[in-house]
Amino acid sequence: MSNHRALTRFAMPVVMIAAAGLAGCGNQSSVDPELTATLIQPVARVEIQAVKIAPGSRTGEQIYKATCAACHEAGLVGAPKTGDAAGWGPRLALGHNGLTASAIAGKGAMPPRGGGSDLTDTEVSRAVAFLANSAGASYTEPPVE
Ligand code: HEC
Repeated sequence: MSNHRALTRFAMPVVMIAAAGLAGCGNQSSVDPELTATLIQPVARVEIQAVKIAPGSRTGEQIYKATCAACHEAGLVGAPKTGDAAGWGPRLALGHNGLTASAIAGKGAMPPRGGGSDLTDTEVSRAVAFLANSAGASYTEPPVE
């Protein structure tokens, strides 16, 4: 019984809001363009941010966090750990280009492009620079245009 009463109390405002919304629908002249612009502003801002990190223009750090950290942060499945100079030392002999080629092709338990199939070659190169630099390399991360 008390459950039913609680449900009614919750449902009433919902019905009233829905009714108010429907009433507004038929009345186009009540739409204030300025108010509408203000209301959608936060959404528009989020879209601009999404454009900034569109494929091709992500930084090494952004890619690292989104894709590479999953294995390299904790050294999963034999991945050399981020910041571990001893783990990365022998690998750095391949150089920035060699390591980028490994990451693009995939190696051992690492899938091609670390699983980030939409990463461009330049983006992989940026992420490799970020990772290797954390472990003592001083590669130049290709700049984002
Ligand atoms: C699924 C886990 C996983 C993910 C995700 C991953 N890696 Fe790896 N990575 C590995 C493993 C495992 C190795 C060691 C491979 C080996 O030597 O057998 C490795 C090795 C590497 C190496 C050294 C390659 C070499 O030739 O010694 C580089 C560079 C590298 N990863 C970059 C990246 C980058 C950049 C990303 C993100 C775009 C990434 N990895 C994402 C698992 C991963």
